[in-house]
Amino acid sequence: MSERTIALVTGANKGIGYEIAAGLGALGWSVGVGARDHQRRGAAVERLRAAGVDAFGVPLDVTDDASATAAARLIEEQAGRLDVLVNNAAITGGMPQEPTQVDPTTIRTVVETNVIGVIRVTNAMMPLLRRSASPRIVNMSSSVGSLTRQSGPAEEQTAGPVAVAYAPSKTFLNAVTLQYARELSGTNILINAGCPGYVATDLNGFRGVRTPEQGAAIAIKLATLPDDGPTGQFFDDAGVVPW
Ligand SMILES: NC(=O)c1ccc[n+]([C@@H]2O[C@H](COP(=O)([O-])OP(=O)(O)OC[C@H]3O[C@@H](n4cnc5c(N)ncnc54)[C@H](OP(=O)(O)O)[C@@H]3O)[C@@H](O)[C@H]2O)c1
Repeated sequence: MSERTIALVTGANKGIGYEIAAGLGALGWSVGVGARDHQRRGAAVERLRAAGVDAFGVPLDVTDDASATAAARLIEEQAGRLDVLVNNAAITGGMPQEPTQVDPTTIRTVVETNVIGVIRVTNAMMPLLRRSASPRIVNMSSSVGSLTRQSGPAEEQTAGPVAVAYAPSKTFLNAVTLQYARELSGTNILINAGCPGYVATDLNGFRGVRTPEQGAAIAIKLATLPDDGPTGQFFDDAGVVPW
């Protein structure tokens, strides 16, 4: 079994996920680049390796049971265990998303990726995580999933656009994170949700104001928590985000 810390980042071929992989790789970790597209995955692995990262490709579509199972098998063969899982892959489902106009299919698609995808991948990886001395799970959420911020004063402008699929999918993900933390309390597995801030990526047509590297920082922090670190909480760079 590898001496190095082994991480898997889903949706690591671009955006924040790529920078999370780069940041964890810079720690000397071995990083599985979870990505569904063969070419995009290969290009990301190549770029990471060129930057000195011990990266390996992990074919992974988070909406597909067989893909998640195969990804776990690959990591088992490659490393024998998993220390850190970063559930980063997500979609918005496209905008606008006014509740009165939305196609229910959009809701299903977004929840399938952003919530059920996280559960699917986490559970596929759980036997490998249980073999780690200090397992960490990081769920990339968003402050738009904070009900407190969604219902706060409009002038604070932290709620993002009205988005009946994407924003509640992150609320759902936060709630799911808490349920995992409750089940896993008393184990050495720490699971938290992180918000990267408003980052310029494909997800928002590059309208975000932060760089993907800045967005990756919270995931790297939660991936490297000490054994007595928090679990079942929601953080951004400034600290705890209200539910
Ligand atoms: N950008 C922001 O301002 C912001 C703010 C708050 C939270 N976040 C969260 O941060 C995370 C990363 O977002 P980002 O801005 O970096 O988005 P992005 O650039 O659009 O990247 C999303 C990644 O997820 C992957 N993905 C989507 N569906 C997938 C599936 N079914 N299976 C596997 N991979 C899939 C994409 O792969 P493909 O290339 O194959 O599509 C891509 O690698 C997300 O969880 C997002 O909700 C972002």
